[in-house]
Amino acid sequence: MKNATFVLILSLMAFSLIQISPASAETTEQRDARMQWWRQARFGMFVHWGLYSGLAGTWKDKPVGTRGGMEWIQQRVRVDTWEYAHEAVPRFRPEEGFADAWAKLARQAGCQYVVFTTKHHDGFCLFKSQYTTYDAHELVGRDLCKEIVDAVRDEGLKVGFYHSVIDWHHPQYDYFKADQLPHPLKGQPSPNGPRHHDIYLDYLHHQARELFSNYGPVDIIWWDYSKKGNDGPFWRADALMAMARSLQPAIISNNRLYHIPNIEKGDSVGRLKTWKPEQGDFTTPEQTIPSTGVPGVDWEVCMTMNTTWGYSEHDHAWKSNETLIRNLIDIVSKGGNYLLNIGPKGDGSITQESIDSMNAIGRWMKVNGEAIYGTTASPFEKPAWGRYTKKPGKIYAHVFEWPQNGVLQVPAGDMQIKRAYLLADPDKKALETAKKTDGLIIRLPEKAPDDIASVIVLEHQR
Ligand code: GLC
Repeated sequence: MKNATFVLILSLMAFSLIQISPASAETTEQRDARMQWWRQARFGMFVHWGLYSGLAGTWKDKPVGTRGGMEWIQQRVRVDTWEYAHEAVPRFRPEEGFADAWAKLARQAGCQYVVFTTKHHDGFCLFKSQYTTYDAHELVGRDLCKEIVDAVRDEGLKVGFYHSVIDWHHPQYDYFKADQLPHPLKGQPSPNGPRHHDIYLDYLHHQARELFSNYGPVDIIWWDYSKKGNDGPFWRADALMAMARSLQPAIISNNRLYHIPNIEKGDSVGRLKTWKPEQGDFTTPEQTIPSTGVPGVDWEVCMTMNTTWGYSEHDHAWKSNETLIRNLIDIVSKGGNYLLNIGPKGDGSITQESIDSMNAIGRWMKVNGEAIYGTTASPFEKPAWGRYTKKPGKIYAHVFEWPQNGVLQVPAGDMQIKRAYLLADPDKKALETAKKTDGLIIRLPEKAPDDIASVIVLEHQR
């Protein structure tokens, strides 16, 4: 009898584990297989686009600011959805074919995946939803989500859905309970009386089911975001994660449904690694590159090209091509992915600055992509002149500062270097090398093939 009870309890426990966290039932091999394309990809394009894009950082003819996220404009000017939508909807006029231009730009830049906002904090949905009229289908007569998914797939890229769990438009989103998170009406009494958070959660879950069911394979789900006290159980997150996995078994998820220590706020790398695998596959340092990476976990830096995610006509603080390309190399040399944002305008067109930068990255990637895709973190300390990446049998030295004396020093250790050559050299002509006690000396041509980063390949015995 005792035994039978014990067995019953054990099997109940096993059953509930499978129910609650199917991802934890995955073996390491299965997880590695699921993560493989993402780990190889290294570079993706983020897109923030919604009603705020048409407002362009301007509210009733006044600039709201020149810096910071203008996808938050409704919160910045503290208006309700009626007033916001009244201003924003007429300015959101997607041109035909806008998504093809995004997807082409991403592919030409060398991105392997595109993550876009299916819904941002303002609550407006780019996808067709039967649970709201605040969606693209109702307001512009199109399923913009489908247009984007189709365009991205046509370019052979993977598709990711950004989805905000914060929702400023929903009349039952309880901003009193969600007190750690932003809301335009914060500090004001609810205009529609007491709110019922559970009703909002049902809505959130129903819409997630639509996203995971109606658009074919979804490669990434990029939830946004939680704070301590408003995380995990607050969203019924375990059920959301389980739903994602059951409807999209190969999906890769970020960990923003849960409260995750924040590397940019000074939390240690050790603390950053405390989340469980079933709470997400990768962590997301925002607008910052962790100085020594996040060893032992998958991570992706998301970053803007100026200082806003959503389009603003007032933000001219564009990062240079040099910064963007070197950021990509820096991140990859530490074992992370780079998710670089564009904020298209209300008609879906992309700012010239972003187009030019993406094209510059694309030109660099055409020559040097081999030193990015499928590579892993540097085997050596960060050198003063640049960064390293590596692949089995190869080390890539990305030289930012071309040595004036024509000599590059690499701490090759006991590695047997077979050959060194410039990746930009179509003939792969061997560079002269010499073994020194403290490493390897490589003789370089006088002029760097690339002013931003020139890659030297070191083939070595495995
Ligand atoms: C933040 C912001 C949001 C942006 C996101 C991108 O959480 O709230 O506006 O979409 O980060 O990482």
